[in-house]
Amino acid sequence: AGPLLVPLARIGEGEQLRIAWRGQPVFVRHRSAAEIAAVRAVPLSTLRDPERDEDRTRDPDWLVVIGRCTHEGCEPFAGLGDDGGWLCLCHGSQFDLSGRVRKGPAPTNLPVPPHHFPVRTMLAIG
Ligand code: FES
Repeated sequence: AGPLLVPLARIGEGEQLRIAWRGQPVFVRHRSAAEIAAVRAVPLSTLRDPERDEDRTRDPDWLVVIGRCTHEGCEPFAGLGDDGGWLCLCHGSQFDLSGRVRKGPAPTNLPVPPHHFPVRTMLAIG
């Protein structure tokens, strides 16, 4: 199978689309300019799994992550983290709007699946 194509026009700023890709949940989050600036201002020295947001996104407006907590695999919930990111209710891990672990027992960031944007209004995952 080729990449999964996801039209982006109906995902408003601040909204998340949850889709299934290869049996896993994938979150497609349309970030605002303020949200992008906030995650890019976080010092890497404060991160458990230091990764630049710039290296996790192909287009800053769109964060694409696999929606499985890296602790024991529960699906985190959008909008419940301290900064508006994700909270995993199983043991309290939090992930910021770059999908990076910020609290709790999760050892690593939410993985970014291979993706690109064949045109501005279309995401291709895989
Ligand atoms: Fe998410 Fe344990 S599975 S915190």
